[in-house]
Amino acid sequence: MSRAEVEALQLERLQRTVRHAYANVPLYTRKFDEAGVHPDDIRTLADVARLPFTTKADLRETYPFGMFAVPMERVARIHASSGTTGRPTVVGYTSGDLERWGSLVARSLRASGIRPGMKVHNAYGYGLFTGGLGAHAGIERLGATVIPMSGGQTARQVQLIQDFRPDAILCTPSYLLTIADCMAEQGIDPRSTSLKVAVLGAEPWTNEMRHELEQRLGLDAVDIYGLSEVMGPGVGNECLETKDGPHLWEDHFLPEIIDGDTGAVLPDGELGELVFTSLTKEAFPVIRYRTRDLTRLLPGTARPGMRRMEKITGRNDDMIILRGVNLFPTQIEELVLGIEQLTPHFILELSKEGRMDALKVRIERHPELSIETCEAAAVVLQQRIKVHIGSTVAVQLEEPGALPRSEGKYQRVYDLR
Ligand code: DLL
Repeated sequence: MSRAEVEALQLERLQRTVRHAYANVPLYTRKFDEAGVHPDDIRTLADVARLPFTTKADLRETYPFGMFAVPMERVARIHASSGTTGRPTVVGYTSGDLERWGSLVARSLRASGIRPGMKVHNAYGYGLFTGGLGAHAGIERLGATVIPMSGGQTARQVQLIQDFRPDAILCTPSYLLTIADCMAEQGIDPRSTSLKVAVLGAEPWTNEMRHELEQRLGLDAVDIYGLSEVMGPGVGNECLETKDGPHLWEDHFLPEIIDGDTGAVLPDGELGELVFTSLTKEAFPVIRYRTRDLTRLLPGTARPGMRRMEKITGRNDDMIILRGVNLFPTQIEELVLGIEQLTPHFILELSKEGRMDALKVRIERHPELSIETCEAAAVVLQQRIKVHIGSTVAVQLEEPGALPRSEGKYQRVYDLR
């Protein structure tokens, strides 16, 4: 579709979605009324900015099913995400929603280079998490062969990759690292497997991590983006040809970037919080849902009708404020992976030293290098963090295998304050 065709479709679908949400979800009726806006006021795409935002707090307030816009009999599936505090976030899908979701994941996988007839090892967790079942449906829809492995049991994952010879793997980037390590421990060269493509997402990861994984495993690593509230995996996906950040499937989602503090809409190209309005969802329409993910909107490249987003820097929630300096774990990841003598296995520990916040980077030493070399590399890391981020941190070397390994979404930050 051309850009004009995409926008015409978006407007028609936006008007329909806004009417549907207003008529069927009491929370939206109330919030629209309070903001003095009616579905009839939405005449152009820019009018979306007149609508109130929806936040995670709204979902909590209406827990569990208060934001469903169809009767329960029409809800074919429920997913939930655990969240960091309190009640989980619950989302629902009609059978039509599930069909569209499957198609969008199929589209995402196709953009990743996966084709009908290929074998796909799905190591996203099955269950209430949207990753496993969401990816599963897309693989089937594409006409590829799905190997529904789910997360965990890493030795078994390695065994099945050896025996079934899949063309592609789907998992979090941190878990692919765990899998590569497990291969190496078993004497298998991670570059020797049948895997040609990895479709990685569900957590922030840098281009440096992409490079590391591509080198270690001898495959193409592409970025898949999504969140439960908006659908699940497949809201956007990188194209194999360009690997320049996920294209957003704008025929089904209307993205905006806002200033997180003022709520003002920012022009394309500026960094801010990503906000989505769903355009085709029946059971769980979302209006201007604040993702807390930080990125910018960029013009489409490999698929010019759709805009791209820059690879996510981090979430508002992940931001560490260290003595007045804001920093994201991805910034540390970038610097760690830029130093060859360091391993990618690190965690960040926040603590209090007196009344000051302190950050410690605990990182495993390289098993094949001398202690002196590793210690020198740790000092280099400390200096680079000081120069590039502006924070003084401690770097502590750990023995190989000492830090927890990812089995899905990796917990990078430990707040001990
Ligand atoms: O993580 C959905 C998903 C599953 C996406 C599998 C991709 C692959 P939630 O558990 O609701 O849903 O978490 C959503 O994860 O708001 C981002 O902060 C983060 N996230 C997801 N994909 C990416 C990505 C799934 N490609 C939250 N890059 C989102 C960076 C990502 N962060």
